[in-house]
Amino acid sequence: MDPPEEVRARLERCGQGHLLRFWAELGPEQRRALLAALPPGLGEHCRLAAAAGARQRGPPERLDGRMEPLPAELLGSARRSGPAALQRWEAEGLYQISQNKVAVLLLAGGQGTRLGVSYPKGMYNVGLPSGKNLYQIQAERIRKVEQLAGQRHRCKCAIPWYIMTSEFTLGPTEEFFVQHNYFNLDRSNVIMFEQRMLPAVTFDGKAILEEKGKIAMAPDGNGGLYRALVDNKILDDMKQRGIQYVHVYCVDNILVKMADPVFIGFCVSKGADCGAKVVEKAYPTEPVGVVCCVDGVYQVVEYSEVSPETAQQQRPEGGLMFSAGNICNHFFTVDFLEIVAQKCEPQLKHHVAIKKVPYIDKEGNLVKPLKPNGIKLEKFVFDVFQFSKNFVAFEVLREEEFSPLKNADTADKDTPTTARQALLAQHYRWALKAGARFVDENGCRIPEKLSLSGTEDPPAVCEISPLVSYFGEGLEVYMKNKDFPSPFVLDETKVEMLENS
Ligand code: UTP
Repeated sequence: MDPPEEVRARLERCGQGHLLRFWAELGPEQRRALLAALPPGLGEHCRLAAAAGARQRGPPERLDGRMEPLPAELLGSARRSGPAALQRWEAEGLYQISQNKVAVLLLAGGQGTRLGVSYPKGMYNVGLPSGKNLYQIQAERIRKVEQLAGQRHRCKCAIPWYIMTSEFTLGPTEEFFVQHNYFNLDRSNVIMFEQRMLPAVTFDGKAILEEKGKIAMAPDGNGGLYRALVDNKILDDMKQRGIQYVHVYCVDNILVKMADPVFIGFCVSKGADCGAKVVEKAYPTEPVGVVCCVDGVYQVVEYSEVSPETAQQQRPEGGLMFSAGNICNHFFTVDFLEIVAQKCEPQLKHHVAIKKVPYIDKEGNLVKPLKPNGIKLEKFVFDVFQFSKNFVAFEVLREEEFSPLKNADTADKDTPTTARQALLAQHYRWALKAGARFVDENGCRIPEKLSLSGTEDPPAVCEISPLVSYFGEGLEVYMKNKDFPSPFVLDETKVEMLENS
């Protein structure tokens, strides 16, 4: 069977005739699948990708002259605000949660190529004493914050968990949740949906065959969220549930505070439609995007778009001029998401990722390239700040809120080891603050170390289950003036034992 003449002609016209090179060798099922997978607008996509790839490989566009830092009145801070303000925001956030108006939305469609595991990143276990994986930690934080809000307002409430997956991650993620009984969440409140995929393209604008009858596809970036919300009718689901505020976050930050009441409360009390959590940049050339204003519009500027001189600029009162590091932790109202998804999404620009994409050569052999050969186009979730009518940012402490898992342990940052150390350092600080003491196997006191770099092991290992404490609250009753061995895991069973002792 020949491909329909019209398909062959259409592919030839847009420079993609090579996709049918192995047609004669394909079985009926493979032929059907290949034809079904040809995306509409393929030629246009390939042209766009090749042009964007060429721009990317040229000198970077610098935004220096057009950048301004965020105005102080838009930037809240966990460090600089007094306890009264923090308590007020926390109370507001807990109130909104208790009213069932808050959802969390996880971006989990990425391929996690740098970490290099064959399964979704959320299933990764960084080697905590409890053996918990990222999904379990997140699920338990949701349960705890629901409980805190429910206790404060004497009601039962729920925070729906929307999980955006991709063709790569949907199946295994679903299976994992079923195996783990949805980590004891009500499964009707866990909503998984899939983002779209786009063809990977060579530098000269040809879609890549990864098998003789299969085009290499990649997820369309975490900014694919906005199309996926419409494709999967997620906004309708949110509205039916009465959700008004959504906390969007990435799968790989082990310290993420799901539905953080302080952040939600801050954004709600400022009347914001869109908000970003930021951390102070660690050093001027740190490769993180900064949230700032460009030509009067809020956006994230990538580190490659700023000259080293601008990156080092200081504020008169000290500290970096452009210090608001983006950690991909966002607040959106459902109304804002609706405007973006329905109207503004086509205006989001494409970013280019140049990657090694395995391909079938002209002779039909599979080649695993040693150098990057393919262009993937992605949209970014944070490119929507420009559409906000009332944008705010909230600075939080890095050691309390941000430690991403990006690389395998062979790298020197953002690895399983640094993620584990960050979490255990945080829990050690919480335990000391609650008055705990740690002793070694001989019963001798382990000397305390209060300032930890976040990339070193704390002197004693203490892991606190999110089901016991969400942000370090409520630990004195179990820990004050008590000796604990190291390692120690404070979970619900231990809490019961301590209560009865
Ligand atoms: P990263 O940009 O770190 O990508 O994603 P990644 O896929 O996890 O890892 P690498 O680059 O292949 O090593 C940041 C967040 O955005 C999500 C990821 O799952 C992660 O939570 N993401 C990324 C998506 O949801 N969809 C995408 O298409 C890309």
